[in-house]
Amino acid sequence: MKGVILAGGTGSRLYPLTKVTNKHLLPVYNKPMIYYPMETLINAGIKDIMIVSGRGHAGHFLELLGSGVDFGVHFTYEIQEKAGGIAQALSLAEDFVDGDSVTVILGDNIFQDNVKEDVADFNNGAKIFLKEVPDAYRFGVAELKDEKIIGVEEKPKVPKTNFAVTGLYIYDPEVFDVIKALKPSGRGELEITDVNNYYINKGVMEYGILEGFWSDAGTFESLLRAGMLVKQSTEKDFLE
Ligand code: G1P
Repeated sequence: MKGVILAGGTGSRLYPLTKVTNKHLLPVYNKPMIYYPMETLINAGIKDIMIVSGRGHAGHFLELLGSGVDFGVHFTYEIQEKAGGIAQALSLAEDFVDGDSVTVILGDNIFQDNVKEDVADFNNGAKIFLKEVPDAYRFGVAELKDEKIIGVEEKPKVPKTNFAVTGLYIYDPEVFDVIKALKPSGRGELEITDVNNYYINKGVMEYGILEGFWSDAGTFESLLRAGMLVKQSTEKDFLE
């Protein structure tokens, strides 16, 4: 199993915080944002991790994270020249993944759950992770029927459920052929939701429901919320 952290994008929703640095380097409570997805992969037992970032501040990721030796893992770096969507960024990892399965995580997603067993038990097809949220319209939203996932809609105005598709995905090696066949969406991007619907239609998509907290951190509100959740969870650990 390989790991990929997607840390591209312009961070326009966080301007001017992102005027002179990258969104994924901003603090979430007491660590740079990218530490959280990195720790999610490392805690899942993944040791070979690629970081895909945009141009502009790519050198800062190298300076912050280095070779991976400090964390007991190995990092590889790749550059997404232009923001072309999550699936386009993932396509840059094809040679790195080299026929293995891959766990992909968005660099602005903060997870409390440990997905070690999901990674260890993964064989083929794909797996996504859902979380019930009050503002599902902001995300990819899962449609469920008889406990089966029958579709994902990207940012629907009227969500069919409250289950957001979080930014953590496990794919078999076919994912790179799936991405090659994608057409850009209305916003001109290769959408990860289209990749997920391919696996759903093929009948090989599994899902898990997260128990712990989850937050994205790409807007002022969610960035603040993510920091509060992390702070509360460290205080709870301290008390226990
Ligand atoms: C992306 C995905 C969306 C997913 C979300 C999780 O949205 O397109 O399906 O639910 O990440 O954070 P974005 O934050 O890029 O708008």
